[in-house]
Parts: sequence; C-alpha cells; structure tokens
Amino acid sequence: MRERLLEGAAALVTGGSSGIGAATCRAFAREGAKVAINYVTDSGPAEAMVREIAAQGGKAIAVGADVSKELDVIAMFERAIAVFGRIDIAVANAGIQRDADIEHMTLEQWNAVIGTNLTGQFLTAREAIRRMRHQDPLPNSPARGKILCMSSVHEVIPWAGHVNYATSKGGIHLLMQSLAQEVAPYRIRVNAIAPGAIRTNINKDHWSTPEGAAAMVQLIPYGRIGDPEDIAKAAVWLASDESDYVVGATLFVDGGMTLYPPSTTRNS
Ligand code: BGC
Repeated sequence: MRERLLEGAAALVTGGSSGIGAATCRAFAREGAKVAINYVTDSGPAEAMVREIAAQGGKAIAVGADVSKELDVIAMFERAIAVFGRIDIAVANAGIQRDADIEHMTLEQWNAVIGTNLTGQFLTAREAIRRMRHQDPLPNSPARGKILCMSSVHEVIPWAGHVNYATSKGGIHLLMQSLAQEVAPYRIRVNAIAPGAIRTNINKDHWSTPEGAAAMVQLIPYGRIGDPEDIAKAAVWLASDESDYVVGATLFVDGGMTLYPPSTTRNS
C-alpha cells in the first residue's frame, strides 16, 4: 500500500457534515488524518460520520459551531486541539446561499451569506493561524500548517440574482491571497479551491430535475456535473506535502466552467 498522504495530521473541516465538506472529511480520514467535523445545527450526520470513520480504523470528532460567531469558532478550535493536541489542516468550507434578485434581497439575506461565507472564513483562518504558528511542523513535514479556503467559480464569474454569494466568494479570493502572503514566512500555506457546479444540497433544486441538470451541463465544457469527491481529491492534494510549493493559489475544479463560453457553443 502506498504511504497515506495525510498520515498523522489533525484536520478541521467547517461545514463538514454534508456535501463537499463531508466528502473532504472522508477523504482526509482515508489518507490517515484525524478529522474534526464541524456542523452548525444538526449533530446527527456528523456523529454518523464519526462512527463510520471509526469503523474504518480512523479517528474523528463532531464539533458544533456557527462559523459566523467568533466565540463559537474559538471554542471549536479549542475542542479539536484538546482532543488531537494540534491542528495541521483547516478547511474553511462552510457556505450558504440565500438567493434573491437585488430589489428583493433583504439585509438579512445579505448578512447571513457574508457572515457565514466570508466572515466565517476569516474567523476560521485566524484561529487556525493563531494555533499553527506556535506548533512545530509534524516530523518530515516542511510546513507548520495548511489552510484551504472553499471558494467558487463565482469568485470570478459574476452571478446575477446572487450578489451576496458572488460578493462573498470574490472577497475570499483576496482574503486567501493576502493571508497567504502574510503567513507564508511562518511556513503556513494558504490556498483555495474554486468548485464549479457540484452535486450537493446547495444547488439540488437545479440538478435534481432533468431540465435543470441539462441547463447546468450546458455551462460545463467537460460535460458533466461535478461530484463532491472531485473537490475532496483536490483538497487532499492541497492539504498534503505533495503541494508544498503551492502558496496563495486558487485551484479551479470546475470541468472548465470558467472557460466560458463553452467551446461546444462557439462558432455555432
Ligand atoms: C454554487 C452552486 C452553483 C455553482 C455553479 C457554486 O458556488 O454554490 O449553487 O451551481 O457555483 O454556478
């Protein structure tokens, strides 16, 4: 068996109990990491994943926290470190949509999305950095820690009807790069993944009908909707030392969605 890529590392994944976060937790555990699975309201799915990972010989804990709340985020890191002793990988993944056209978008919808998607990533990254900075790298690891920000193709593709969401992801782009520049001297690597259309609950209303799925695929040159595992594989690589020289990068995992317009419709 090949050496596992995250052997012995302790990871924390916000929004870890569903969608991309859940696939990332499972992939991290398969690669030998201990995983703190964050959930916001319902502990059930996170607890079920803890049992599933334990049954496969891994170690995981479920940690409740609303990432938009400072004290929640601090307590979440304290809990993970109390159990694992350190934190090597933090994935700021938790994200929500509250869609509305601009004339009907309420301040509550705006604040909810900015709070979870952008402030939540700031708080998660800040707490991770506060801890990582004062720990020795794991034996054989060149880095003191790795932070992944979950962005979106909408950090570059404007999204009418979703200005709160697109603004949060645009913000993540420079949050991630500025942080990466600031903490690289401490040997903490910060990078982002920008997923395209991935089959999760956030966009289920679209891909779950044949017409919706077809409309989505129209936007994807590679011709298929992504699976959470497509993102989890990229997360494993970015969280591992295989990507040791990658700092401040956004990896687009989108089947070519950002290459708009799709080649198939060009010249037609
Ligand atoms: C959004 C999804 C959308 C995808 C592509 C993601 O960031 O959360 O709802 O399907 O971008 O537009």
